[in-house]
Amino acid sequence: MKKTTVLSFANNKGGSGKSTTCANVACALGISGKKILVIDGDMQLNLSLSFFDEDKVFELASGDRNIYRVIKGQTAFGDCITKTGCKNVDIVCSSTLMSGVEFELFPRMQREFVLRKAMADVVAQGIYDYILIDAPPTLGTWVINILAASDKVIIPVEASPWGLFGLANMFEFIDSIREVAPDLEILGITVTKVSERKNYFKQTMATLSETDAYVFKNYVRVDVNVEKAQDESMPVIVFNPKCRSAGEFKLLAEEIHKKCR
Ligand SMILES: Nc1ncnc2c1ncn2[C@@H]1O[C@H](COP(=O)(O)OP(=O)(O)O)[C@@H](O)[C@H]1O
Ligand SMILES: [Mg+2]
Repeated sequence: MKKTTVLSFANNKGGSGKSTTCANVACALGISGKKILVIDGDMQLNLSLSFFDEDKVFELASGDRNIYRVIKGQTAFGDCITKTGCKNVDIVCSSTLMSGVEFELFPRMQREFVLRKAMADVVAQGIYDYILIDAPPTLGTWVINILAASDKVIIPVEASPWGLFGLANMFEFIDSIREVAPDLEILGITVTKVSERKNYFKQTMATLSETDAYVFKNYVRVDVNVEKAQDESMPVIVFNPKCRSAGEFKLLAEEIHKKCR
């Protein structure tokens, strides 16, 4: 039986690369032989759209087999798992109804642990090496659920002038929820959308070196293939395995895996 590591990708700043990193790290780990489940925690459905076309995502998002139905207690988590076209990668899709998740959670008993309890059977069965959760760009009860269900969290930041805005909030937020996530480890910060021709990269790395968190050595540079791949509903690693960002995501996934052991 596998010991399943639950790893979330979170940053309250939108556009920092959470969904892209989650999809590609999942895909790279899957190719390397690990069994992976990804959970789309965002009503924007970007992680779901990284694996399926709009029609399929719409079908899953509006049906009974998505994370909203799990939170509502209407469908068992295990029954929401769908295979993706990527080797060894399964998914639980999101729903646009997740826009109301905070209202759903508010009156619930032990509202911080709804996701953790829902996932418990699948985690205990040890089917997956990793469960990767893509968090939305918010800091509310739903993200607390995601973090309370996680062993570790990765914070993707964009190498841009505003990329580090809010990072202090993110650390404070994690500190403030220690009561419900006492063992949550900040695995590290991944730097995304790097353009080495611009100074922001150096500035970003310099600022990050002052934080206590580990900064992953393998960053991912800006690559048009990333958006082309998203347009074709697949991770860039599948869309164009030989392109630069595909190689960078594979190295990042290896580094993440080494750091998790
Ligand atoms: N390495 C990259 N090169 C080019 N574009 C990227 C790269 N990584 C992410 N993007 C783009 O940046 C945008 C934000 O990324 P996304 O993963 O959706 O961030 P988040 O989930 O944090 O909001 C998306 O349009 C995505 O296509
Ligand atoms: Mg996203």
